Amino acid sequence: MKITSVKGMHDVGPPEISSWHRIEKVARSIFENAHFYELRTPPLEEEILFTRGIGNTTDIIEKEMYAFEDRKGRKLALRPEGTASIVRSFIEHYAATQQYERFYYIGPMFRYERPQKGRYRQFYQIGAEVFGAKHPFVDAEVIALAHEIFKTLGLKKVALHLNSLGCKVCRPDYRKALLEFLNELQSKLCEDCQKRILKNPLRVLDCKNASCTQHTQGAPAMFEHLCKDCVDHFEGVQQALRKFSIPYEVNPRMVRGLDYYERTAFEFLSGDLGAQNAVAGGGRYDDLVKDLGGPSVPGIGFAIGLERLVSLLALQESPSSERPKIFLAALGSAAQSWALTCMAQLRKTGFVTFSNFESHSLKHLLKHADKHKADYALIIGDNELQSGKIQIKDMKSQTQKEVPLDSVLAYFESLFPHKER
Ligand code: HAM
Repeated sequence: MKITSVKGMHDVGPPEISSWHRIEKVARSIFENAHFYELRTPPLEEEILFTRGIGNTTDIIEKEMYAFEDRKGRKLALRPEGTASIVRSFIEHYAATQQYERFYYIGPMFRYERPQKGRYRQFYQIGAEVFGAKHPFVDAEVIALAHEIFKTLGLKKVALHLNSLGCKVCRPDYRKALLEFLNELQSKLCEDCQKRILKNPLRVLDCKNASCTQHTQGAPAMFEHLCKDCVDHFEGVQQALRKFSIPYEVNPRMVRGLDYYERTAFEFLSGDLGAQNAVAGGGRYDDLVKDLGGPSVPGIGFAIGLERLVSLLALQESPSSERPKIFLAALGSAAQSWALTCMAQLRKTGFVTFSNFESHSLKHLLKHADKHKADYALIIGDNELQSGKIQIKDMKSQTQKEVPLDSVLAYFESLFPHKER
């Protein structure tokens, strides 16, 4: 019997793991410079956290959640997203003092979707959430963080789409106008959209069916129905984005797939991702903390889909993030013993160093170095030990250099200043 990974779930390993590490490192440093703290929550939560938080009529809750009962009959679910969990943890540990209000997270999420390119049943998100801030500049600040992560990674061709979804005051009015428009079209829309009209009409605007998109072209736009406070807020966000020199496009059709949003909603889209074109999404959720049993504290955040970001960076042939690798090709037991000490020294100084003590043929050792993509091979045998000099082979240029045994470390340190190791 062959045991494989579960459908829609993947192992993440070499070679692409180095890209994951690079992304995580860049994101952590950007978040920490902006005074965010990492928060790790369990992947398993009470089901009610998500049904109440994300909204019962969303696809995530209706069709995609991994929900089950444990051995004691407790209703649990694998988290389909990070926001609800972070809000739960904020309420449980931090809301009372509000000493910590800015959090980031990196971890796997689970949605029972139909797997296809860029859409998996387990996928990773890097996200950030800010509590206690109402000001529109904070919305722009949060958007700017995602933008900064993409820019630092050298990601090209991503477009920021922005919308305002209004608030409790103005959305009912918009909903009414939208319903009037949709009711006229009902018979022309797909089956899912016909149901959406009854349960969650805003979601019709998000339908990926080309015919629905075409028929709803003339749908009323939310920003035409915003109340004065929401207009001012939306203006404020845009003003700050202009200040940050972050280009954006107002997209009245972008409604997001979760029900907790109010006012600002945004997505970063890429033409290179195919049908699953969002590499990140987020927005403001001023009632979620309260709805989940906490105090009335506003919130805003976003999440980046890691698999999608990794695949976009791979398309761009970004410069290799691998650190230089040194292989020790030692022939004979005296040389092997010297190599062992040298390997420990090089590793301690930050160099990726490895060896193979099984083989006693230089040809085999160099083949091994080549197979494992070593940048340098250090060749040492009895002759080198006697002469006190080692051969350093540059595996790319295939050139060789002689270096005194006691200068190997200094040689690599001069070649690679500390930050490159
Ligand atoms: P979301 O738009 O559902 O938002 O997901 C954020 C990102 O996760 C998407 O833009 C996409 O890159 C990635 N993603 C979503 N589903 C999948 C999937 N099945 N396979 C691969 N990647 C996927 C949220 O989850 C919100 N919690 C974001 C947020 C944070 N809003 C406020 N704070």
